[in-house]
Amino acid sequence: MSESGDGGDAILNVGVDLGTSRSSVSASNGERHVVRSYVGWPADMVARKVLQRDVLIGDDALENRIMLDLHRPLERGLIKEGSEKDAEAVRELLSHLISLVNNDDARVRAVVGVPAEALRVNRQQLRNAMSGLIDQLMIVSEPFAVAYGLEALLHALVIDIGAGTTDFCVMNGRYPTEEDQRTLTQAGDSVDEQLNQLVAARYPEANFSSHMVREWKEKHSFVGEPKGSVEVEAPVRGVPTQLDITDEMRQACESLLPPVTEMMIDLISRVQPEYQAKVRQNVLLSGGSGLIRGLGAALQEALKEIGGGQVRVVKDPIYVGSDGGLALATDAPDSDWEKLSA
Ligand SMILES: Nc1ncnc2c1ncn2[C@@H]1O[C@H](COP(=O)(O)OP(=O)(O)OP(=O)(O)O)[C@@H](O)[C@H]1O
Ligand SMILES: [Mg+2]
Repeated sequence: MSESGDGGDAILNVGVDLGTSRSSVSASNGERHVVRSYVGWPADMVARKVLQRDVLIGDDALENRIMLDLHRPLERGLIKEGSEKDAEAVRELLSHLISLVNNDDARVRAVVGVPAEALRVNRQQLRNAMSGLIDQLMIVSEPFAVAYGLEALLHALVIDIGAGTTDFCVMNGRYPTEEDQRTLTQAGDSVDEQLNQLVAARYPEANFSSHMVREWKEKHSFVGEPKGSVEVEAPVRGVPTQLDITDEMRQACESLLPPVTEMMIDLISRVQPEYQAKVRQNVLLSGGSGLIRGLGAALQEALKEIGGGQVRVVKDPIYVGSDGGLALATDAPDSDWEKLSA
């Protein structure tokens, strides 16, 4: 459904959460989609003949990766610089997301959430990637979009732990400034890397891929006391073998605790003194890596050091960023948008 008029004159409001591992889009016509942030081009003539497509996106790309030049263009939360292919991949991804929701050929205005630090360095790249695809753009930090979506606008701290980055945003009842926001590069990907190394060190003869490691983590992640042993299967010299990776899982997941705790306490300590207690009571943990079992409780435990508080985990984090972007798009006055030339 269009907002006004028909065809080309209608305006479609869109929220996009451009994530390292997943990107989601929510639109004012009710469409909502999530796509894995992978883009691939057939590696050669044979691959093209098999695939019968010029470019593959999301799960489609991941499943056919053996035949592709595969890109994950947002690693570490930034559009990778210096690579033409990555810039093109971001454009393909955005174009795909917009096409998924824009069935009526409407004019689109989109709020795009990016990691907090990317706001400083990557605005222009994002504008370039979006020009021609949409009419009006607003770039916001990812945790701000999340905060807006959850209506945590006043005296709240959002911690969004994704794949490439952990983003923090303190909400004071107005647009957050640079001082209210922080980004760490310790997040899901860094947990995966550590788990990979730890398991390889313990079982040097086991064969496993980074995709398997991520699946193990998503199924068995935890911090604190284990509920039972974590056993996974991988081939050792071709023989499927059970591996106990309980300690490795714990160590890899707990690597997030020191940097996230330190940043959380630092940000709260900078809030005006009379509001600190309110913010401590209103910490929201979102993002896929916020689902690590025990993480919310461990952060809440850490708040005891500064007087105690409450950490709530967003249980279904997939669309909170893009829904928040859509809510912003719907509410924002014309003056908050920038126009993009075609
Ligand atoms: N149940 C789970 N337990 C632990 N980790 C999980 C779980 N589910 C997803 N993840 C991890 O969450 C991360 C993806 O989260 P999310 O979709 O919020 O990230 P993103 O938005 O793509 O990344 P970023 O915000 O850093 O750009 C991945 O590292 C994934 O492995
Ligand atoms: Mg994210």
